[in-house]
Amino acid sequence: MAATLVSLALSILFISSSVNALSLNYYDKTCPHLESAVTDAVKNGIVNDKTVPAALLRMHFHDCFIRGCDASVLLESKGNQKAEKDGPPNISLHAFYVINNAKKAVEELCPGVVSCADILALAARDAVALSGGPTWQVPKGRKDGRISKAADTSQLPAPVFNITQLQQSFSQRGLNLNDLVALSGGHTLGFAHCSSFQNRIHNFNGSVDIDPSLKSTFAATLRSICPEHNKVRSAGITLDSTTTAFDNAYYKLLLKGKSIFSSDEALLSTPKTKALVSKFASSQEEFDNAFVKSMIKMSSIPGGQEIRLDCRKVR
Ligand SMILES: *[C@@H]1O[C@H](CO)[C@@H](O)[C@H](O)[C@H]1NC(C)=O
Ligand SMILES: *[C@@H]1O[C@H](CO)[C@@H](O)[C@H](O)[C@H]1NC(C)=O
Ligand SMILES: *[C@@H]1O[C@H](CO)[C@@H](O)[C@H](O)[C@H]1NC(C)=O
Repeated sequence: MAATLVSLALSILFISSSVNALSLNYYDKTCPHLESAVTDAVKNGIVNDKTVPAALLRMHFHDCFIRGCDASVLLESKGNQKAEKDGPPNISLHAFYVINNAKKAVEELCPGVVSCADILALAARDAVALSGGPTWQVPKGRKDGRISKAADTSQLPAPVFNITQLQQSFSQRGLNLNDLVALSGGHTLGFAHCSSFQNRIHNFNGSVDIDPSLKSTFAATLRSICPEHNKVRSAGITLDSTTTAFDNAYYKLLLKGKSIFSSDEALLSTPKTKALVSKFASSQEEFDNAFVKSMIKMSSIPGGQEIRLDCRKVR
């Protein structure tokens, strides 16, 4: 009996250390002023560029979906070894300097102690809170990885995904339909480039040109911004009408035929996910609570094994 208990205790210990168990007080002794240093860097970024919060939230999501939350998205390409940040969806990534500045400040406070992956997770939380969204305590103790490959960006859920593909992509990472709908609400911040919704407004399928689930006046707006042979790489539209405010406008617009991506519209294609969209559209509080829960879950996807000194390169 005692032996069984000991081996059970050991196996629990082993399991938790093998996934880098995270904790709220991870840096309490080793870097007590970590969080305010990160928050300052995020605030400084926002002063110059209102799109910084959207960029940080997107960057954290991208990081966690490839090799776990291990700051692989922050590594720079080396010669012809292209890193994630130089892979195809790189148009949606920017503001890396905010994380690099935060890391510099943190290294001055407590050298070699805090992972870039933790800094990014904290910055994403700050991005939401500083945009008027909910705040929460971030479990910490992530480790940084050594590998970043441009080709891996094909593992990110694509804007053209249907509900089956979205569900599969999320469940491979331990995330369920609740998480899918709640985390899609992150589209309350941000911008969509024409290339990511072109499929809905030109040659939708063999018999119709425009996705019939789009409200026609809204589809006309999208087409005027993004003509069929759009050459302006930067052209596009904000993901919701209140793009710098973290709110539930995204869900309200979905219900009005004003979704941007096929993957947004897909949330209305099953009764379960549609009910969640309606719930979040009618209650900011329900959305906030669900978002926080799912963010903590997503940002705990394990990965990495060391602490980088410079977020852009392995030691
Ligand atoms: C982004 O990805 C494209 C390939 O899709 C590549 O040509 C480009 O160099 C990458 N980097 C930047 C900064 O655009
Ligand atoms: C989603 O797309 C996949 C791949 O194209 C297809 O096999 C599947 O049937 C689609 N599912 C739905 C619900 O449309
Ligand atoms: C094209 O989309 C319309 C509307 O969703 C649908 O009725 C039609 O069957 C689709 N056609 C093809 C060829 O997929």
